[in-house]
Amino acid sequence: SAQLNDLAVRAGLKYFGTALREGAINSDSAYAAILSDKKEFGQLVPENGQKWDATEATRGTFTYASGDITANKAKANGQGLRCHTMVWYSQLPSWVSGGTWTKTTLQSVIETHMSNVMGHYLGQCYAWDVINEAVTDDGAWRDNVFLKTFGTDYFALAFNAAKKVDPNTKLYYNDYNLEYNGAKATKALELVSIVKAAGAPIDGVGFQGHLIVGSTPSRSSLATVLKRFTALGVEVAYTELDIRHSSLPASTAAQVTQGNDFANVVGSCLDVTGCVGVTVWSFTDKYSWVPETFSGAGDALIYDKSFNKKVAWTSISSVL
Ligand code: XIL
Repeated sequence: SAQLNDLAVRAGLKYFGTALREGAINSDSAYAAILSDKKEFGQLVPENGQKWDATEATRGTFTYASGDITANKAKANGQGLRCHTMVWYSQLPSWVSGGTWTKTTLQSVIETHMSNVMGHYLGQCYAWDVINEAVTDDGAWRDNVFLKTFGTDYFALAFNAAKKVDPNTKLYYNDYNLEYNGAKATKALELVSIVKAAGAPIDGVGFQGHLIVGSTPSRSSLATVLKRFTALGVEVAYTELDIRHSSLPASTAAQVTQGNDFANVVGSCLDVTGCVGVTVWSFTDKYSWVPETFSGAGDALIYDKSFNKKVAWTSISSVL
């Protein structure tokens, strides 16, 4: 029967992908089997393995054991790889966030991190999230060690440094809650404009898509905000899609709503030239950051905890 990546590609997208939870892949064969099927998932993303705290917890000491789990799976299975992430305030070791920096020393720290980590995965990444979550929900620049040291100059600095290491990957800005087309989306558009005005390269904007059942914008509203970005000459993608029930267990009606919400998100990508693909932030409710992060919420994915396809899976397959 039809599978999601096959359907997505036939519908004109480049891929339908999923995040891979590094700790589960070797212990759970049912998980591994679905994840390794390139007809279902054409691209993988490491959920945590390429982050700064996973790759350079100690300054100058680089570790790829966790990130390589996903990269090696993708290679073995003939799947693509999305790479995530470089400059981010979170999962950032305290030697960076709490360091005392000048522009020169922090620039060198960023460049060293990129040349090692992006260099390690050179030639494997369809895209890299160069900057993650630099804007707050109310539409301000997020206060972090990078903003404190460089002001907004770190945007172009990061994209220029990334391009130097890997000229062939797509360089992305990635953030959540852009979907609501409010002050945050407007500020992210400004970030893209700042990078471009500085003559630095930016190829894409990732809409993380951490959404809520019943509060997910309509297909046409989603297409509208995606188009505000593609109008600036960047591609877009949903990079971390999950749609959570606010309370559990979810009723039958809530599961149908969740399916419609997923279909609207995927459908909006089909509606926008320059929307290249959709990635779910893990595919099974068995392994999801949602219940760990949003108290009482959960069941945000497309397979249940026993690896049965949910209504959400069927709704996506029908829209593709
Ligand atoms: C999350 C992971 O899923 C969790 O396992 C981890 O504990 C915290 O980070 N935005 C991002 C992702 O860009 O990297 C985050 O992933 C979810 C929010």
